[in-house]
Amino acid sequence: MHDFEEGWHRCLDDLDRAGRRRRLRGIDRHGDGGLEIDGRSLLDFSSNDYLGLSQHPDLITRAGDFARRWGAGSGASRLVCGNILPFATVEEKLARGKQAEAALVFVSGFQANSSILPALFDGKVLGAEPLVFCDKLIHASLIQGCLAAGVRQIRFRHNDLGHLESLLEQHRNEIRPRFIITETVFSMDGDRADPAGLARLAERYGAFLYLDEAHATGVLGDGGFGLAKGMAGPRCLVMGTFSKALGGFGAYVACTKALRDYLINRCPGLIYATALPPAVLGAMDAALDLLPTLDGRRAHLAASAERFRQAMARVGLDTGASSTQIVPVMLGTEDRALTLAHALEAEGMLGVAIRPPTVPPGSSRIRFAFSARHTDEEIDRLIEAMIRLTGRRA
Ligand SMILES: Cc1ncc(COP(=O)(O)O)c(C=O)c1O
Repeated sequence: MHDFEEGWHRCLDDLDRAGRRRRLRGIDRHGDGGLEIDGRSLLDFSSNDYLGLSQHPDLITRAGDFARRWGAGSGASRLVCGNILPFATVEEKLARGKQAEAALVFVSGFQANSSILPALFDGKVLGAEPLVFCDKLIHASLIQGCLAAGVRQIRFRHNDLGHLESLLEQHRNEIRPRFIITETVFSMDGDRADPAGLARLAERYGAFLYLDEAHATGVLGDGGFGLAKGMAGPRCLVMGTFSKALGGFGAYVACTKALRDYLINRCPGLIYATALPPAVLGAMDAALDLLPTLDGRRAHLAASAERFRQAMARVGLDTGASSTQIVPVMLGTEDRALTLAHALEAEGMLGVAIRPPTVPPGSSRIRFAFSARHTDEEIDRLIEAMIRLTGRRA
């Protein structure tokens, strides 16, 4: 008889030996945004709650209101009887904010990317198998979508439009539909794509542009509606999440009405998943109302990240091409990243070591994610610890 457990143990032992075994840690959160791990309070520089909205009273109240009005669960998928009224309100607010014809809410960002791409790449609908051009560093959920669709990814160097153009040019004579898949802000690097440049290339080569705004939504763009605000249309889909700066959970796409209807009919991640619970919709609804009023928080967040970046640059620590609230400090080896993350934690600060396979080998780093809740004093505490623990001189 096959010994299933033996295989799993062997795999875990291999990960242990390589120092790559991941473990879940119990986290306690305080209402003030504080974090506790194993009974120790930590200053959190790791979460994606960039605007601190997960603790905002409006989101918490409306989540409670919606749960009291519609219940704890939605009971069924949206196509059966789970499509409670707030979906329409949230999607209208989103479409307006994104300046798109329509919007569609999904259960999560991972589920959206991994199930929308196979629906878009359907060779029978397109009339031919597509050519799919992907930035080399796209998120695992987008890769999963490509894998599920069975397409070969043609990968261009990270944010390198010249390279993308040369690849598009190489395939110019193939009569197949083209897709360009990328993110507007990259989650592990904190750098930005050039949406206008991408749109120009997509236009020139007749490609469809798929933009993931998971880390731009709420933080960047006019009113916090992202870097691709106004871009969704017949040749562009913009997706994003509510799980990061919007403080809640779930995801959305902004697109045309036709594409919305197509996804409702052909996207298994929407068709075969239970609709989001009412409380989650309540938090979404409140976050969308707040978003245009948060310029102050966005400005403070941008200033905090810049304060940290400049301090790192002054002592020769490399923050890559970061220009957003996500600031990696590049350390190279896994060992260096892990040792520094542990040392920071011992001083009461949480910055998570990011290692392969999440990032390419040799580019291990600590990913610092700032929040509008951080004070200047807290940023300075982190700066001082980083300089001291890396043996730099201020
Ligand atoms: C770029 C990107 N897309 C999609 C996702 C998935 O979103 P969610 O966490 O809402 O499932 C993430 C999450 O980390 C992400 O970083």
